[in-house]
Amino acid sequence: MYIFLKYINYTFNVPLDSRHARFYGCDHLPKQAGNREDRRPMGRLDHCYNIADLREVAKSRLPKGVFEYIDKGTEDQISLDNNRATLNATKLLNKILVDVSDVQLDAQILGAKSAMPLVIAPTGIAGLTWHEGEFELAKAAGRAGVPFTLATGSNTPMEKVAQESGARAWFQLYMWREKELSYELVRRAAKAGFETLVWTVDIGHGANREHNARNGFSQPYKLNARSIVDMLKHPEWLATMMGRYVMGGRMPEHVNYPEKYQMRMTGGGKRAAGHATAMRADRVSWEDVDRLRDIWPGKLIIKGVMRVDDAQMAVERGADAIVVSNHGGRNMDSAPATIAVLPKIVAHVGDKVDVIVDSGVRRGSDIVKCLALGAKAVLAGRATLYGVAAGGQPGAEKALAILKDEMKRTMAYVGLQRVEDIDQDIIWRQD
Ligand SMILES: Cc1cc2nc3c(=O)[nH]c(=O)nc-3n(C[C@H](O)[C@H](O)[C@H](O)COP(=O)(O)O)c2cc1C
Repeated sequence: MYIFLKYINYTFNVPLDSRHARFYGCDHLPKQAGNREDRRPMGRLDHCYNIADLREVAKSRLPKGVFEYIDKGTEDQISLDNNRATLNATKLLNKILVDVSDVQLDAQILGAKSAMPLVIAPTGIAGLTWHEGEFELAKAAGRAGVPFTLATGSNTPMEKVAQESGARAWFQLYMWREKELSYELVRRAAKAGFETLVWTVDIGHGANREHNARNGFSQPYKLNARSIVDMLKHPEWLATMMGRYVMGGRMPEHVNYPEKYQMRMTGGGKRAAGHATAMRADRVSWEDVDRLRDIWPGKLIIKGVMRVDDAQMAVERGADAIVVSNHGGRNMDSAPATIAVLPKIVAHVGDKVDVIVDSGVRRGSDIVKCLALGAKAVLAGRATLYGVAAGGQPGAEKALAILKDEMKRTMAYVGLQRVEDIDQDIIWRQD
């Protein structure tokens, strides 16, 4: 048994404690193999030179169902492709013979300093890519000096993220049909110390992601023939991710859902009450912004804005910022690219609130393009998610370092040393 425990600890990087020794009938624990989780992926991370490389590592590590849930968009992938195609089609003009010896990326986001104009976006599934994946992401954000947004659907308790990650913490909310339950969450987030509330409003009736059905992937993560085979083909993920949850005696759970809807991400759990996502509100209105404004003491952001009239209404109702977003092409598949609608929205409300944009950012040059088109900052979803899936906190840090480095190089090419000086002058326009 002693040797078996040592094998589990060494091969699968599962940390052992006295409960394991008791369970397996050992007198004492074997010497721990050290934190191999931090070490093992580093070899792979060393060979990642861009976000696409991190994506490849994530792809090889994750079960197909989990990877495609992250990577793909919805239906025919039109919005997803559109986001990338429009960013690629946006060209920058380099400027010559100017001093670029001191390029700095510091930015003001919602009145506070950030090491670069980037915030990690809420992505509910980080905890299925790495053990406590969202906490790893949040710690990486803290180290890099950028804010982190915790999704409602995450499985690390919000208090731990707000108080122990070292990041400026934002909390993302989905409204529930029983709105009082959402207000409970909002109060809990305020008490936990989150500085900003992000209300995501672009969910309609939920996304038609056919690949999930094909892969046998669902939320909660249910075991079926396809998902079992998929998991078995990825033993490292199974052992280091699920294994650590099992050994820790707690399966990943939606601990930040209202208590009534909390359930394991693998189904069941203490209060599985139907499919929780189906309980999300589809009857919401601008009055709900007023209500949130009343109970939330911090900054309030509306995420999922694509129209000028909605942006104006958000400002009128007291939002401090908006996120121009098509959910990374994951929800409605007929959406224009976000940077296509951004300039007009900025022209109408950019002097009143911070306009943040997301959907498609994979390179530092993309961030520069978004800022040139009027955004104050970007949210990064998949870019940092690939990072954490490839290598936990070090992987997420690597993703942020790559984006920082690329952004700095781009600023030097366009002849700018400060983020606040980036404007549409650097965009190439065909006369
Ligand atoms: C796997 C995944 C899960 C997501 N979950 C959420 C979520 O729970 N709440 C939310 O507001 N947005 C969610 N998003 C959308 C992101 O916040 C963000 O809008 C989007 O990822 C930006 O596009 P990008 O991935 O191309 O950067 C999710 C995105 C991904 C990729």
